[in-house]
Amino acid sequence: MKGIILAGGTGSRLMPITRVTNKHLLPVYNKPMIYYPLQTLIDAGIKDILIISGRPHAGAFVNILGSGKEFGVRLSYEIQDEAMGIAHALGLAEDFVDDKKLCVILGDNIFEDKLDISDFHEGARIFLKEVKNAKRFGVATVDSNNKVIEIEEKPKEPKTNLAVTGLYLYDNKVFEIIRNLKPSHRGELEITDVNNAYIKLGKMDAKILDGYWSDAGTFESLYKASTLVREKHI
Ligand code: DAU
Repeated sequence: MKGIILAGGTGSRLMPITRVTNKHLLPVYNKPMIYYPLQTLIDAGIKDILIISGRPHAGAFVNILGSGKEFGVRLSYEIQDEAMGIAHALGLAEDFVDDKKLCVILGDNIFEDKLDISDFHEGARIFLKEVKNAKRFGVATVDSNNKVIEIEEKPKEPKTNLAVTGLYLYDNKVFEIIRNLKPSHRGELEITDVNNAYIKLGKMDAKILDGYWSDAGTFESLYKASTLVREKHI
């Protein structure tokens, strides 16, 4: 399985500090943010990882992470020229992934759990976490067997408190799905539309996370993530 870290986007919610450097290089307690998703992929046993970043500060990723040798993995790099959405960024990984399966993680997501992905074979899988403020996230509705029925992106009135975290497993049919996506009202190719396409095909399953999870893309969540990393020694 190949790994992909999506570290594009503009970091506009963290202005003005994202004028200084890329959001994913900002500190979360004692490490640059991107170290955490990188470690999550490494702990899942992934050895071949592509980092997709925006243009500003792109060279800084190579300076900090290099070939990946010090982490015991192979790192490659790709540029997303414009922040046209998470699914758009993922679409840039097609040649890298080739005919393999892929594990995608958002560069601002911090997971406490070590993930077992060895039982994933085809279709798609998402990871859900119960949260208080679900309207900030993709929100999943599941049936009594935890089968996902629908995902709504940042609904005003969430039907559940199950947030879709930024970790996704896909087979390589994902690239065909991305090619057929239309931009959303905010002009982006949405990962939620990719996931709903898999749900329609009946090929999506979900796991609920026990451990701590947070994104770190707003001042409040960045602060909370730093505090929790410190307390939980992540
Ligand atoms: O954190 C989990 C949430 O992430 C999910 O619950 C949502 O369903 C999903 O849409 C996403 O929502 P956000 O609003 O938090 O996404 P954001 O625009 O902050 O982007 C998250 C990461 O994705 C960002 O750190 C880098 C990457 N990204 C984003 C965009 C828009 C890219 O690589 N390229 C992009 O164009």
